[in-house]
Amino acid sequence: MAQASLSLLILLIAFTGFHRQLQVLSSEYDFSYMKSVYNATYLPPEEEYDYIVIGGGTAGCPLAATLSEEYSVLVLERGNAPKAHPSVLHASGSLANLMREEEEDVDDGDTPAQRFTSEDGVANVRGRVLGGSSMINAGFFSRADNEFFSKSGVEWDLDEVEKAYEWVEESIVSRPDLSAWQSVVKEALLEAGVGPDNGVNLKHELGTKVSGSTFDEMGRRHGAVELLNKGDLKNLRVAIHATVERIIFSTKTANPSAIGVIYTDSKGESHKASIRQNGEIILSAGAVGSPQLLLLSGIGPHSYLSSLNIPIVHSQPNVGKFMADNPRNNINLVIPFPYIPSTARVVGITNDYFIESASINLPFSPTSLPFGFLPTPSSPLELSLAVIAEKIVGPLSRGSLRLASKTDVKATPHVQFNYFTDPTDLSRCVSGMRKLGELLKTKSMDRFKYRDFNGARDFMFLGPTLPTNQSDDSSMEAFCQSSVTTIWHYHGGCLVGKVVDGDFKVIGTNSLRVVDGSTFTISPGTNPQATLMMIGRYVGLKILRERRELNYNGNSLSAIPQGQNYLGSHIKATCGQETVLSSCVCNGQ
Ligand SMILES: Cc1cc2nc3c(=O)[nH]c(=O)nc-3n(C[C@H](O)[C@H](O)[C@H](O)COP(=O)(O)OP(=O)(O)OC[C@H]3O[C@@H](n4cnc5c(N)ncnc54)[C@H](O)[C@@H]3O)c2cc1C
Ligand SMILES: *[C@@H]1O[C@H](CO)[C@@H](O)[C@H](O)[C@H]1NC(C)=O
Ligand SMILES: *[C@@H]1O[C@H](CO)[C@@H](O)[C@H](O)[C@H]1NC(C)=O
Repeated sequence: MAQASLSLLILLIAFTGFHRQLQVLSSEYDFSYMKSVYNATYLPPEEEYDYIVIGGGTAGCPLAATLSEEYSVLVLERGNAPKAHPSVLHASGSLANLMREEEEDVDDGDTPAQRFTSEDGVANVRGRVLGGSSMINAGFFSRADNEFFSKSGVEWDLDEVEKAYEWVEESIVSRPDLSAWQSVVKEALLEAGVGPDNGVNLKHELGTKVSGSTFDEMGRRHGAVELLNKGDLKNLRVAIHATVERIIFSTKTANPSAIGVIYTDSKGESHKASIRQNGEIILSAGAVGSPQLLLLSGIGPHSYLSSLNIPIVHSQPNVGKFMADNPRNNINLVIPFPYIPSTARVVGITNDYFIESASINLPFSPTSLPFGFLPTPSSPLELSLAVIAEKIVGPLSRGSLRLASKTDVKATPHVQFNYFTDPTDLSRCVSGMRKLGELLKTKSMDRFKYRDFNGARDFMFLGPTLPTNQSDDSSMEAFCQSSVTTIWHYHGGCLVGKVVDGDFKVIGTNSLRVVDGSTFTISPGTNPQATLMMIGRYVGLKILRERRELNYNGNSLSAIPQGQNYLGSHIKATCGQETVLSSCVCNGQ
């Protein structure tokens, strides 16, 4: 243990040269956004907004907040508010979220982590709560690699990218508090050759680094939902328990134009929300939800939609295609002494794979342990476990998504990811697993071994163990295949360049964009949430700029509708600007 405290001391010293962007953030939750949150049952059957954001998730929240700075915005989120599910508000609840899902056989329609199993047979989850999957994830916050920006098919303005990341980071990202276990992981990664030591850094660089977290030092989660607070709450209406069924289009224009959405509330009542002229609908329902909604709305492969008798609005062969999920393979070590649970704060970055680890306490049940070891559980009821996980870069393997129901949006689509069908993915996993093997051989890890009855010292694993002959490709490949699971970074279905253009606009339609993980060809950086939040902000600002240009060019100013608007302040926000250009009369002002 002396060794452990020494390494902690060294890390503390290292912290004095802390990265500028990371602040000690130990703030209380900011629930200001609740002023804008409404139960969908209380919303009128029909109304109008400038922008409608479908899905109040990781990308949807920063996007909606940004648009609300100048326009009226409606966010439609199928889940409840985080307050209704206290487990999403704290690191200690993350595991409970996932376990709760595992314990229950049937989906009650309300858990914040909605379970689904891909056609590959791998159990998975997706967020169903305001704030989206950022409210059920592991909190690890790390920016995208440069390759993502050069290859994503988007002409990024990198200064704007930087500002958008900072906009997110100043509010919800904390300086990581390295627990004993995370310090060990860092030490072991460096010892196993995953260098250099990049200290504390949000950037994606080869080597080992400590990154940011959306959990503060008290373990409180500050997810994407808190970014709503940065908008103009008077212009923002967030409907919860609002499940969007489909997008409606006008076909009067050459290309179909999105004009509104149909959503249902928790009583099953149907509502219609429409957009005003020059407004837009932005789909941010995630990699499963967004392709699903496009298909249900008649945008998808012609023959597929016809086979389901879904009226075709726009034939688009690539909707629901190119679905991908980075396989996760991990080993779990039973730790011989009590350890405080920790979420991942350290990552080892190579060109082929990334390694992260979390320590957790599990309810202790002696019967679940392999015979021959004498564990000393951290308490009579709990067992300390370290999960060391590897995620491959990419991936290159691709799958697809099919509807499970052509009428019921609540039926999670069938998704197939085809893990490791591309040989590069498999060889990346093999390299990653070999590195895990090297990690276990480091001096830093030695003290986690147990002594068995014969006096031999070895690790105690819970779950899969690495093959003994790690130079043998075929046994390593077999290990990758048989122990594959998900790191929940699934993406695709509405790819940039295939379904949306470089401005995230759905190709062949008007007034419709997709802004979320469904647009990614590859998963950005080690972990995607930072980039998803950044993109929400980035695209929001881009839309505001485009709209300003449109207004100043004098287009359709005379046609700005002045209809019913009970978001009183919106009138001020938009008309205040517009009166300069046209003498609009706003609700009698
Ligand atoms: C368990 C877990 C751990 C993870 N750990 C990390 C991590 O540590 N670091 C990291 O960077 N990433 C992590 N991720 C991945 C990351 O959280 C996701 O990639 C990201 O949150 C996805 O963002 P999104 O905006 O694409 O979708 P989401 O955030 O999932 O948002 C989609 C939203 O749309 C809503 N929606 C869907 N359909 C409808 C509909 N029909 N009507 C109304 N609303 C709808 C959903 O309820 C949801 O709120 C993790 C994910 C999970 C699940
Ligand atoms: C919304 O209102 C309905 C009807 O009053 C109620 O049954 C439901 O529980 C409410 N939902 C939330 C999220 O508060
Ligand atoms: C391990 O596998 C390699 C490659 O298949 C083989 O050459 C070697 O003999 C094996 N070693 C042992 C100890 O089995």
